[in-house]
Amino acid sequence: MARSTPEVRPISSPSTVSCRFLPEDRAVEAEVGTTILDAAHANDIPVETVCAGKGTCGTCRVLVRDAEVPEPTPHDKRRLAIAQLAGGWRLACQHPVDAGAVYSHPLGIRAVRVVESAGLGRISLDPNIQKIYVKPSPPSLHDPRADWSLVQDELAAAAGDLDPTRDALSRLGAIGEEISQGVTVVIAGNRVISVERGDTTGVAYGLAFDIGTTTVVGALMDLTTGQEVAVASDINGQHIYGGDVISRMSATMRGPEFVERLHRAILDTVRGITTRCLEAADVRPDRVYEATFVGNTVMTHLLLGIDPSRISYSPFAPTTVDPVSLRASELDLPVLPSAWVWVAPAVASYVGGDIVGVMLSTNLGRRRGTTLVIDVGTNGEIVLAHQRRLFATAAPAGPAFEGAEITRGMRAAPGAIERVRITSNSVGVDVIGGGEPEGICGSGLVDAVAELLRVGAVLPSGRLLSGDEMEKALPGLADRVRPDDTGGEFVLTGDPASPEESIALHAQDIRRLQLAKGSIRCGTNVLLREAGLQPSDLDRVLLAGAFGAYIDPAQALAIGLLPPVPEEAVEAIGNAAGHGARMCLLSLTSRVRATDLPGHVHYVELSAVPDFQDQFGDAMGFPASDQAASND
Ligand code: FES
Repeated sequence: MARSTPEVRPISSPSTVSCRFLPEDRAVEAEVGTTILDAAHANDIPVETVCAGKGTCGTCRVLVRDAEVPEPTPHDKRRLAIAQLAGGWRLACQHPVDAGAVYSHPLGIRAVRVVESAGLGRISLDPNIQKIYVKPSPPSLHDPRADWSLVQDELAAAAGDLDPTRDALSRLGAIGEEISQGVTVVIAGNRVISVERGDTTGVAYGLAFDIGTTTVVGALMDLTTGQEVAVASDINGQHIYGGDVISRMSATMRGPEFVERLHRAILDTVRGITTRCLEAADVRPDRVYEATFVGNTVMTHLLLGIDPSRISYSPFAPTTVDPVSLRASELDLPVLPSAWVWVAPAVASYVGGDIVGVMLSTNLGRRRGTTLVIDVGTNGEIVLAHQRRLFATAAPAGPAFEGAEITRGMRAAPGAIERVRITSNSVGVDVIGGGEPEGICGSGLVDAVAELLRVGAVLPSGRLLSGDEMEKALPGLADRVRPDDTGGEFVLTGDPASPEESIALHAQDIRRLQLAKGSIRCGTNVLLREAGLQPSDLDRVLLAGAFGAYIDPAQALAIGLLPPVPEEAVEAIGNAAGHGARMCLLSLTSRVRATDLPGHVHYVELSAVPDFQDQFGDAMGFPASDQAASND
């Protein structure tokens, strides 16, 4: 039975107003003048944002009910379709809360897909954590040595001299003279981090985290078998400060209080994932002895509570790129307080520990031949491995691949068009979840443009054919072209005669895709040139990350996002960064290698390349399909 929405009344204070958010069905009070977006975020209501309220991404849309729908702003008009505007949708960042209004927002961000790693090798098991069972003799009047001395004597032969943490001594003190019945000593590196009653050598766990800007994934691993026993993920709690690292750094520039807020937000996410993993596997918190983290440089800075804002401006210098070790209690993780936390090193400000994880898990630099790895995202990270030499760069692609700043763009969530097939007289789409299409996500955008290029409706320059041109070249699709004075649009689904009941790709969306793919392709071309190579020298192209897992390699080649290689040479490897975090947890050898890797990478700063603009301009064009060439 449908639940009726409780009535909302403005409260009496003139300086605040009350409104309600759906689907949470929560009443919220906010200062007069507060934007709908800020009111939601101040109350932990996850209205999505990529641009952090600048009005450019279009992801914060809400349906206004039970109040007068405000006049659309220029940003509303630019980012929302006519049908959405007419239906009462507005951008939450553009309007103040209205007394008594109800704001309904889509829950796309909660449904972002998480990918597994694919085709990556097994991990050898040589963890940093060691457990040794000892049975000291009890102290006596003839031998009144301290408990720790007795334990240390037993340990010496197996592990040499070790320092105990305060926590380990405290636990030893609680065991007292019962140590003669046997205790298990937990060792991390050269420190004893815990002492446990009895023989617990068969029980040891660790956590491996991949801190993405959008999604955080944590895996609870059995350190005695190398098996994953639980995995959990969540949206990065910093999402309310914007969808990309630039927005997050902008937020930290508002002052130290905001650095602390973003620090707390990511820690809350990590703690929540930890608790869920422990509950799912029924593991005691004090049996988790270590955690490893990979993430981009901004995320690892914020995890550690370090202000990352200097990364956003020239000379783009971070505070550290080295690995960092600390105790779990310093991050207040719900595990053994003296557990060891290890944060992976970075290569540079925009090539972080997540890419070190990718390089580690793909064995890059040790592979035969020439391999290119691309992690497509708002910041595209690219690594080229050739004859054991490694080259890396970062390409600022912007949010188009995440569906932001695209007229009908949305994240890869239920309702998003993810596949498009176009013939000379028809268009077919696949929608995530199989329901009615609501918008188009990044992989759908790539598909749509690739198909339009293939049939010749978009030219290599990126121009969409006009209605007249389409009538001549592709009469079966001509009624899908809706002209306007900014290049027109092509209707993908719905009634072309009704803007309200259709989803279209605008000429400006094609332009934004060109800019995004041009940036990544420019980075690839610069790295190839730096290594003295041609695209034909590439043996393999590996696509890392979530976008790489869902993109169709043939379409990525068709739009020139990838350099021209045979389609069979392209392989999606999924969450290779997360796999790297697991390797660093389960294998000390891998961790040492990860520590060593950044020193072997030749980093190229794209903005410092003298002919960057020329390279970027060249990379923006689309490859010519036979059909496009004949229509040109
Ligand atoms: Fe409103 Fe981006 S947050 S348009």
